[in-house]
Parts: sequence; structure tokens; C-alpha cells
Amino acid sequence: MKITVINGTEKHGVTYRLKEIFLTPFKDKAEITEFYLPRDCPHFCSGCITCFGKDEKLCKAAEYTQKIEKALLEADLLVFTTPAYVFHATGAMKAMLDHFGYRWMPHRPAKEMFGKRAVIISQCLGAGGKSSAKDIKDSLSWWGVSYIKVLSFRLMNDILWDKLPANKRAGMESKLTRAANRLLTIDYSKKASAGLPARFKFYIIRAMQRSLSKTHPDTADYKYWENNGWLGKVRPWN
Ligand SMILES: Cc1cc2nc3c(=O)[nH]c(=O)nc-3n(C[C@H](O)[C@H](O)[C@H](O)COP(=O)(O)O)c2cc1C
Repeated sequence: MKITVINGTEKHGVTYRLKEIFLTPFKDKAEITEFYLPRDCPHFCSGCITCFGKDEKLCKAAEYTQKIEKALLEADLLVFTTPAYVFHATGAMKAMLDHFGYRWMPHRPAKEMFGKRAVIISQCLGAGGKSSAKDIKDSLSWWGVSYIKVLSFRLMNDILWDKLPANKRAGMESKLTRAANRLLTIDYSKKASAGLPARFKFYIIRAMQRSLSKTHPDTADYKYWENNGWLGKVRPWN
């Protein structure tokens, strides 16, 4: 199986340790590709809207974003990690996610995403871990992913791994290892099923694309929906 990991920080701190613990059961069973932000996607979206209007490959950051996109599309399991920074995912993670606005369902979602599984690992000192995970979950669910497992932690004591009490570290380790072992039992040759929220969003946007086609038949988004057959009988989850 293939796993693609997007690390929201380059620091080898608590977030990194939690991710390493999670990945340990997969190490001899999966091909793991990792990206570290901001190093592997260092540019902010400039808002030029070339990706929405023309082609994502013309983005000024395409040399970075297209590598990430390829790894995301090829993976069986997506893993995103972030510490909470002022109650949200890191700026580096948000900057990377902005580049994939064109993959949101109202635009040109990748059909592969509808059958994928994803895990979000977030942690904070006291508060903000869940809202940080939600920043990532918002994008994943609008990309079409339904199976999203959130593993969020509150450190409470300290933000340095070695200074955390042993029982705190053991509790986090146990939760992460249990989740990883459960994910290892999945048959990844079978797609995850697309949930009701994903299907509901798809049908609303399908109606929107059909209506827009009357006034804007030349948009890249409309042509994409039409070419995929989604305005007819084809569905991205089949
Ligand atoms: C800029 C910054 C903002 C942070 N904001 C929060 C926060 O809003 N809530 C919180 O509980 N912890 C916050 N923290 C602590 C982090 O979530 C995290 O626990 C800490 O950075 C250790 O993780 P790391 O070693 O992976 O960097 C913040 C840390 C930094 C550096």
C-alpha cells in the first residue's frame, strides 16, 4: 500500500513524534512518501486564479504542487499532521491547502478522492487541536474524501516531548498505535464508500454546473464535469 504524509511543520517536535509512532506499524508494509511544509510547498497562493480558470499546471508553484498532487492521488492512505497555532493548522499547511482550492467540489474534484481514506493528527498544549484538524478536514471533505479519522491530542503539561509525563506519552502512543493497526486491517484494493455528505455536495454542485452551463459553457470547471460524464449518469465514487 502507499501512504502520503503531509507534515504541517518541519520541526522534529511533538507533532513529528506522534506521526512517527502512528507510522511505525506501516513501516515494513507500506511505501511512504512524506512532504514537509513549508519546505516542499514554499509559495503562497497569489490569487491569480489561473488554476480555476485555465489549468492548475500553469500555477507559478506547479513544480511543488503537482508533485504533492501526484502523491496524494496515488496514495491509499493520506496522513496530515499539524500542531495548533493560535487555534488553527499551521500557516504552512493552510498555504498548501489554498493551492488545492481548484480540487474543491464546486471546481474540479479528483474522482480518486471519493474512495480514499485519510487520517489527521493534530496536537495542542491546551486548546485548539480539534479546530486545527477541522481546517484540514474542511479541504479533505470538499475534495470528496469521506473516510477521515481525526486523532487529536492535548498535551496539557509541556510542549517538549521529553518533558511530558511517561503516562501521557504512553496514552498517546496507545491511541495512535491502535488506530494504525485498525487501518492496517483494511483491504485497500476496495475503495472507501462515499458518504451522504459527499454525495449531497456532489448533487448540489452538479445542479449548479448544469445551470451555469447555460450562461458559461466555456469554463474549465464545466468542461471537466461534462468530460467526466458527471452531468450524465457517471459518478466519481463508482
Ligand atoms: C505560534 C504557536 C502558536 C500556538 N498556538 C497554540 C494554541 O492556540 N493552543 C495551544 O494549545 N497550543 C498552541 N501552541 C502549542 C502547539 O500547538 C504545540 O503543542 C507545540 O508547538 C509543540 O508541538 P511541536 O513540537 O510539534 O511544534 C502554539 C505554538 C506555537 C509555536
